[in-house]
Amino acid sequence: MRIPEDKIEEIRSSVNIVDFISGYVQLKKRGKNYVGLCPFHQEKTPSFTVSEEKQIFHCFGCHAGGNVYKFLMDFKSISFIEAVQEIAEYAGIPLEFENNRNDKDKDLTEELYEINVKAARYFSENLLKSKEGEIARNYFEKRNIKPKTQKIFGLGYALPVWDAFVNFCRENNIDLAKAKKLGLIDAKEGGKFYDKFRGRIIFPIFSPNGRVIAFGGRILEKSDKAAKYLNSPESEIYLKRKSLYGLYHSKEEIRKLDKAILVEGYMDLISLYQYGIKNVVASSGTSLTDDQARLLSRYTKNVVVIFDADAAGQKASMRSIEILLKQDFDVKILALPENEDPDSFVNKFGKEEFEEYLHKAMNFLEYQTSQFEKAGAFDDPKTYAEAIRELVKSAALVNDDLRRNLLIKTIARKFGLREKLIESELDKILEKTKRTTTIRKNRDTVNKPETNLRVTENGIDKRISNVEKELLILLFEGKQDVVKYIFDHISPNEFTNAKIKELAHLVFEGLVEGNVSTAFLISKIEDEKIRNYILTLTLSEEPISSKWADMSFSGDIEKDSLKIAMDAVKKFKLNQIDYKIKIKNNELQKLTDESSIREKLSEIRQLQENKKMLINSVEEKKSID
Ligand code: GTP
Ligand code: MN
Repeated sequence: MRIPEDKIEEIRSSVNIVDFISGYVQLKKRGKNYVGLCPFHQEKTPSFTVSEEKQIFHCFGCHAGGNVYKFLMDFKSISFIEAVQEIAEYAGIPLEFENNRNDKDKDLTEELYEINVKAARYFSENLLKSKEGEIARNYFEKRNIKPKTQKIFGLGYALPVWDAFVNFCRENNIDLAKAKKLGLIDAKEGGKFYDKFRGRIIFPIFSPNGRVIAFGGRILEKSDKAAKYLNSPESEIYLKRKSLYGLYHSKEEIRKLDKAILVEGYMDLISLYQYGIKNVVASSGTSLTDDQARLLSRYTKNVVVIFDADAAGQKASMRSIEILLKQDFDVKILALPENEDPDSFVNKFGKEEFEEYLHKAMNFLEYQTSQFEKAGAFDDPKTYAEAIRELVKSAALVNDDLRRNLLIKTIARKFGLREKLIESELDKILEKTKRTTTIRKNRDTVNKPETNLRVTENGIDKRISNVEKELLILLFEGKQDVVKYIFDHISPNEFTNAKIKELAHLVFEGLVEGNVSTAFLISKIEDEKIRNYILTLTLSEEPISSKWADMSFSGDIEKDSLKIAMDAVKKFKLNQIDYKIKIKNNELQKLTDESSIREKLSEIRQLQENKKMLINSVEEKKSID
């Protein structure tokens, strides 16, 4: 099923996002925008913002955001197609699907999802019904995973042969090349296909919306020959760093309890869930990524990190903790007794004992302190100071001022040190990070080629020049004449920052297609970080209107934006010339023979002439208005 692009736009633009979201979230008007309590994370003061003018929403707290489709997808955990269907119905627009006579132009990702669902069903059937599945059924019985739990998590079994799934694909018209893309099968050199998962317990990995995006497979018996777990490779539908095992099953409970438990393994998660501890997610043996933490922050900001007592587990966990702290999570840490993991613990001692043990979770300062104590760091004056410095460093990771100060107080109290002393230590650490960013900023006052757009945690970028940022805001304002004016004077390739260049091209394409509405353009940005960045830029109250408040506003807003655009374009051009002059001056320093010096000087003079003309043209425009 495929809905044509212009139909999708027609439906979207016929719905007012403010009215639509009001059906789900209580919104109040504030300034140009509407605000409410974000439905995607816990908050007490509203940072969820909806713009009627731009037809987009954005939460400044958890960075959820996009157009009306994105809202419904996230809110109801449904697919894009489902969201379009529902909103079409809401708008009273009938949807006839284009009939695909051949499967060729069928949406590739949809097809990949379908293959995964078929594979998951197939593995599950093997487990439940096949004769060969006996061994897997016994395995689950031995590990106390009940049939009901097996069903909830869609567990399965891959037969211990080389061609069972390949044959299943052939019998069911599943495209082998696509199954290979998904890592379900592979091909030998001669081109003969074979099953990747053989003789393994299968754990389907779900997206937060409940679609099967990948598989994990565990061997049944310890072996030196095969890895304990085999996981699907990344694909169009599976980005490892963005998916969290178990989130689909646990998200409601996490939201309800406003707390998540982070464990390492698939089995840990499933066992806890079976015992009724359902607010669990698993990092799958690696440390948490920024993206995973951001995903989790939509449901809660409180996490208990549980890890096995072994060294590898501790290391991965420390990294996860750092990532969580940076995103202002309230992090608690719990180390399990030697040789236990959550799965073995809960099976041995039961739910009550586990919950009792959970109370032993320490905040990260307590935990770190206890680790230092164990290592004897406080017995020696030299390591003592070092240990305290480490603690302050961890506290410095916390972005929230209030929370950071509380931590500082705690450290001071605990070690009987003056707060001032700890504070000055903290200042030193913070100063160091600040200094590196100011140096960067100064370097960027001229538009000098940049390679990447850095989007920081709070969405405020520190490295791109102000003019390029202004132009970027203007390009995403949704105003055709503004966009046209900019591209009449600056080509997308002239932007110096690679990411902005990419975004400029995207807007340019929109202009060519005749659609530069914010809601449309936003939906075309694939990189989530960049999308958040643009949403933040374009929705913050501050940028254009107040920064330019001293300009004489006379006409309507359209005209004002255009004026601002004219000014920004001029500034951009001036920067360009300044940069060229600077380069030529540098070149001049190195020249020795008179004629080339003269030539260089005349080039510089020409550039200075151009600059003067440009400045005068600014004056002229102003005096005409
Ligand atoms: P059980 O031994 O069945 O209880 O599984 P477990 O989840 O407790 O395993 P373990 O503690 O050894 O590993 C934790 C998690 O790390 C697993 O759930 C996997 O996600 C991941 N993992 C472990 N071993 C491997 C491996 O060999 N390859 C890959 N890709 N991941 C692994
Ligand atoms: Mn285990």
